[in-house]
Amino acid sequence: MAADKSFYLTTPIYYVNDAPHIGHAYTTVAGDVLTRWHRQRGESVWFLTGTDEHGQKVLNTAQSNNTKPQDWCDRLVDSAWKPVWQDLNIANDDFIRTTEKRHTIRVQNFLQGLKDAGHIYAGKFEGPYCIGCEEFKLPGDLDKGMCKIHSKPVEMLSEDNWFFKLSAFVGPLLEHYKSNPGACEPASARNEVISFLEGEVRDLSISRSTFDWGIPVPWDTKQVIYVWFDALLNYATAVGLGDEPDSEGGKKFAKTWPADVHLVGKDILRFHAIIWPAMLMAAGVAVPKKVFAHGWLLVGGEKMSKSKLTGIAPSDITKDFGVDAFRYYFLKAIPFGSDGSFSWEDMAARYTSELANDFGNLASRLIAMIEKYCDNKIPQVAKDNELAQSLTQTVKTADDAICALDFQGGINAIMDFCKQVNGYVTIKQPWVVAKDAANKAQLDEILYNTAESLRALAVLLHPVMPEVTEKLWQSLGASSLGAIGDQQISKVSNWGQLPAGSVVTKTEVLFPRLEEVK
Ligand code: ME8
Ligand code: MG
Repeated sequence: MAADKSFYLTTPIYYVNDAPHIGHAYTTVAGDVLTRWHRQRGESVWFLTGTDEHGQKVLNTAQSNNTKPQDWCDRLVDSAWKPVWQDLNIANDDFIRTTEKRHTIRVQNFLQGLKDAGHIYAGKFEGPYCIGCEEFKLPGDLDKGMCKIHSKPVEMLSEDNWFFKLSAFVGPLLEHYKSNPGACEPASARNEVISFLEGEVRDLSISRSTFDWGIPVPWDTKQVIYVWFDALLNYATAVGLGDEPDSEGGKKFAKTWPADVHLVGKDILRFHAIIWPAMLMAAGVAVPKKVFAHGWLLVGGEKMSKSKLTGIAPSDITKDFGVDAFRYYFLKAIPFGSDGSFSWEDMAARYTSELANDFGNLASRLIAMIEKYCDNKIPQVAKDNELAQSLTQTVKTADDAICALDFQGGINAIMDFCKQVNGYVTIKQPWVVAKDAANKAQLDEILYNTAESLRALAVLLHPVMPEVTEKLWQSLGASSLGAIGDQQISKVSNWGQLPAGSVVTKTEVLFPRLEEVK
């Protein structure tokens, strides 16, 4: 691996048959938090998201809206997908659309390469196909003739197609997952992949002949490339797959590939953990280091989905709770890898107790006391050993957990430290100490320790809640330490960074009381 290799993370590229709902936001926010964390570890990072625009599902949607598919995609990407990611403070480095030339050309070259190397053959596909999944189904995938994921009838296809010799890669894939358990996580996902590979794996039809909304097969332009074969390649085409090594694309590829994490929902695990690495193996390209399949947000016990119209728009939640609480809630409340149900009650309860009370109030009390007792200035540097030691442990626990994609574990560690700081203030009672001017040194110590703890909390929570932590940073007068996003995780626990004399300023309340929101 090149010494200067970037940490490269991708989200799925989402179908543009409709606007994003909180399920899509869940994956994208998780990717954003993880990449922001890695940036604050001082690593070079590349974060890709985008849209999957070809195939029957998008075509049908466009047609039923009397729109040409390209126009439909342009409209949805510009009016829905990109603005929602911007609203949610997603700091992606690139956004790929599968209708872009940089993608389609590289996909055709890749496919031609597999054909030339003997991995592609002509055959006939006969069997069920779910347009919702854009997937050729096996009998076991169906329930009374319906797709188990979409609860909709499948189509029976009978087409002359081009096939990829997927079955030839079963042995190498099994070997890969057995020797690299980290290549597919969590363990439940890895086990599912292994047992699928141990069953009967058939070759894959990789073209369609009955519609034309797709990338033409280079040697047979009456067929378009199967949408998943096209879509999976985005992760590599976006960073220059197949370009000459000394070209711009070739250099980008060397700096990013293989991807460190493909973040996906468990609905699309097999595509990512079986078909995708097999395609790469066939082409002699390195396979991704990790596919992580998280769980589903459920509505009424079923996967929230665009097709079933059960999607909740992120703005339905952010208009009451704000963007930061939205980002915090899903990663904190649901273990990453498990399913979870969204509930307004749970969201409101956590907002009030964890964000408004534990974190927001701590900040506003401290700022108010520094204004009142210290003439708006951070007092002289002091060090409470217990807090300092806990902080060191907190940073280590949080860093280990978040790097392992255990967001809940990481945020818990940080919020436990926040609770400890609250406990420290409660026990020390600075408002009582302040009553006697002779206690000024003691009062200064308490307030410095609290302010310094908040400095650390702001930095640690910045990847999760970029906006409020930036406000807190300003409010603490911490800007002399540099931008909050430039603060390194490895240095957070160096105690005594907040300079004495920095001027604190009152800001708006970080997490307004819910009844005041509207
Ligand atoms: O599958 N809970 O796109 P898609 C959690 N275009 N995550 C959810 C979710 C839910 N209820 N619903 C959606 C596709 N997601 C393909 C991907 S990649 C080369 C091509 C998230 O629009 C989750 O990440 O159906 C899931 O895997 C993805 O959106 C599916 O989005
Ligand atoms: Mg889907």
